[in-house]
Amino acid sequence: MSPFLLTRTLPEDATEAALRADVLHGLGHTPKTLPPKWFYDAHGSELFERITELPEYYPTRAEREILLARAGEIAAASGARTLVELGSGSSEKTRHLLDALPDLHTYVPVDVSESALTQAGHTLIAERPELNVHALIADFTGGLTLPGTPGPRLVAFLGGTIGNLLPAERASFLSSVRSLLSPGDTLLLGTDLVKEPSVLVAAYDDAAGVTGEFNKNVLSVVDRELGADFDLDAFEHVALWDAGHEWIEMRLRSRAAQTVKIPALDLAVDFAEGEEMRTEISAKFRAEGVRAELAEASLDLTHWWTDTEGRFALSLSSAV
Ligand SMILES: C[S@@+](CC[C@H](N)C(=O)[O-])C[C@H]1O[C@@H](n2cnc3c(N)ncnc32)[C@H](O)[C@@H]1O
Repeated sequence: MSPFLLTRTLPEDATEAALRADVLHGLGHTPKTLPPKWFYDAHGSELFERITELPEYYPTRAEREILLARAGEIAAASGARTLVELGSGSSEKTRHLLDALPDLHTYVPVDVSESALTQAGHTLIAERPELNVHALIADFTGGLTLPGTPGPRLVAFLGGTIGNLLPAERASFLSSVRSLLSPGDTLLLGTDLVKEPSVLVAAYDDAAGVTGEFNKNVLSVVDRELGADFDLDAFEHVALWDAGHEWIEMRLRSRAAQTVKIPALDLAVDFAEGEEMRTEISAKFRAEGVRAELAEASLDLTHWWTDTEGRFALSLSSAV
């Protein structure tokens, strides 16, 4: 059996401290916001996996199509001996890359979800006894320290998760990723592309209501971790296309005027009837925008691949 190491790069209580700070800041803000990373407790990670199988949610299928078609080219261009994956979740699609990288020594999945990392890690080592898996429980926006494994490194950031960051957050995230790269290392980035709004909105507002349940899971996390009394039925899932920013916005709309108590913060938060709180943005991209954002972080886009329907793109870039 190959080694599976799970390292927590943050102290146990740092997660709660970060949640407290985010809730205090986001609910004291107008309009109210909560950051999307708090969706992903064990239940939220399971719900996300169900989303990836929904008929309306095309990004996972489109990105898998590209990975299947291009894994050999990615392997040849990167020559990776270490694959680092940010926001790896179930590592389900990553298998196509793992299969294609002949010289891979270590896989480093990085995620805030301990349950997703543990489950993925155990599955991977059972399937690939030769692979070292060094999983990191870490916030990819928080300045990562990677284990000292053999290069070249390929850093993968799949699923279009970069779209969950606001433009200024993306710029600082990309420059922090750039600082992790040595000469010869590469970044593989998955970006969902701008398309017909009805297709985009349906992907975030499925008929079965799974995305709505996922969206409300952030309230369950705040209830459980901070003793809050959010009533999930008192909020409604909203997904809309913001054409100006070219992003999907997920919100929770208060069905009535209500006051939510958050004892751990000694806080009472008023919601007006119809008031909306933003829980996620999912920015959609165009080729020239991706190239420019990468260049701004001193990353040179060398390859650009899309699925056959042009819905999703994978790009490979290297440190300038
Ligand atoms: C949209 S899902 C994508 C999962 C997977 N990469 C895929 O393509 O299906 C986002 C993943 O990133 C993780 N995540 C979200 N915010 C994070 C953060 N700030 N730091 C580390 N992981 C984060 C979540 O737990 C989740 O597994």
